[in-house]
Amino acid sequence: MTQLSFAALSERKPVKVDLNGTPVCVTRVGDEVFAIADTCSHSDASLSEGDVTDYKIECWLHGAEFDLRSGEVVTPPASIPVEVFEVSRNGDELTISSRKSAQG
Ligand code: FES
Repeated sequence: MTQLSFAALSERKPVKVDLNGTPVCVTRVGDEVFAIADTCSHSDASLSEGDVTDYKIECWLHGAEFDLRSGEVVTPPASIPVEVFEVSRNGDELTISSRKSAQG
């Protein structure tokens, strides 16, 4: 797992964090925080460099959009969802962890 500060996140300004060697894109939308794989499933672009609209993040390279809540593809050319990570919040402290390891 990895930890960061909620207050350090700007609204709709994704940041890239490292989770045990996996790049993760963390995005704040209002009081909610979402974490998805940072690497676009279409090619090798970093999603945290993309633009966020509502609950969608747009890959800067070819324009695919992913739902921050589910990791599902909203707009092609990507066709494979990206992994979603668990975000838990305790005051200002956010903990990002893998859903897979959370399930054992
Ligand atoms: S690399 Fe993201 S849409 Fe092509």
